[in-house]
Amino acid sequence: MHFICVRSSEFNRIIHHLNYFRTQIACSLRKMSKESVTTEFHCNIGAMRAKYHDESDTFTEEDLVGKDPISHFQKWLNDAVKCDRIMEANAMCLATANRNGVPSARYVLLKGYGSDGFEFFTNYNSRKACDLEENPQAALTFYWEPLKRQVRIEGKVEKLSEPESDEYFSSRPKVSQISASVSKQTSLVASRDAMLREVEEFAKEVENSDLKRPKHWGGYRVIPNSYEFWQGQSNRLHDRIRFRKLQENEIIDENLTHYGDGDWVYERLYP
Ligand SMILES: Cc1cc2nc3c(=O)[nH]c(=O)nc-3n(C[C@H](O)[C@H](O)[C@H](O)COP(=O)(O)O)c2cc1C
Repeated sequence: MHFICVRSSEFNRIIHHLNYFRTQIACSLRKMSKESVTTEFHCNIGAMRAKYHDESDTFTEEDLVGKDPISHFQKWLNDAVKCDRIMEANAMCLATANRNGVPSARYVLLKGYGSDGFEFFTNYNSRKACDLEENPQAALTFYWEPLKRQVRIEGKVEKLSEPESDEYFSSRPKVSQISASVSKQTSLVASRDAMLREVEEFAKEVENSDLKRPKHWGGYRVIPNSYEFWQGQSNRLHDRIRFRKLQENEIIDENLTHYGDGDWVYERLYP
């Protein structure tokens, strides 16, 4: 049975790649056939379509590990860590927006999580840090592609305490500490060589000493007010279960929304 599954997933992968290259060739031919040289380019990759879970492998309310979102998150993260096709299960897309609502998104690594929130570390002068200063709200997205699972988390953001950031900084390898100390993340730099020279000089200065966390580097915690667990289905009737905090004085429709633990409620969304 296992053998058949592997064979069929390999087959799907080959079909998927063939579809992609077919669209690429079609795009290139179309581009070549244009008479004038143009910088305009559009490639239609609408035919790229991967196979997801089949109908025997749905994600239903009975599959929730608990009635609080963090225990289910832990289960899915552990599944992703155990999956040998996922190299960095803790990579998450962090979306922020500045005071004008202009969004930006980038990946960061999750370094700790629990019912108190989701922690990551970065430079306090970077673009994300400026956004968070102006607008302390963020969205996190994990996508574990081989499992066809996505988790979305939204909430307010606070800086970790100085001792918390110190503790994580001191646990890092010295080369990472040096890079974090030297990097003026998201500022302009003349060249890679210029950056390397700065690193070498600084490394020499601190060769025989332990490094202290620089003030421009530290952690944040995203405190979730909603989680969404998504699992992809081949027929595109994907499963989505959202946990959110019950609003003050809110009366729920128990046909649609269910009480979870504490002030969490959960509900299914159309895909
Ligand atoms: C998989 C992955 C993990 C990353 N982890 C971090 C991280 O933990 N902290 C960080 O500051 N940047 C991390 N980066 C780099 C960021 O994506 C980004 O380039 C950098 O933080 C600057 O972003 P900003 O200018 O929007 O602030 C990571 C990038 C990737 C692709």
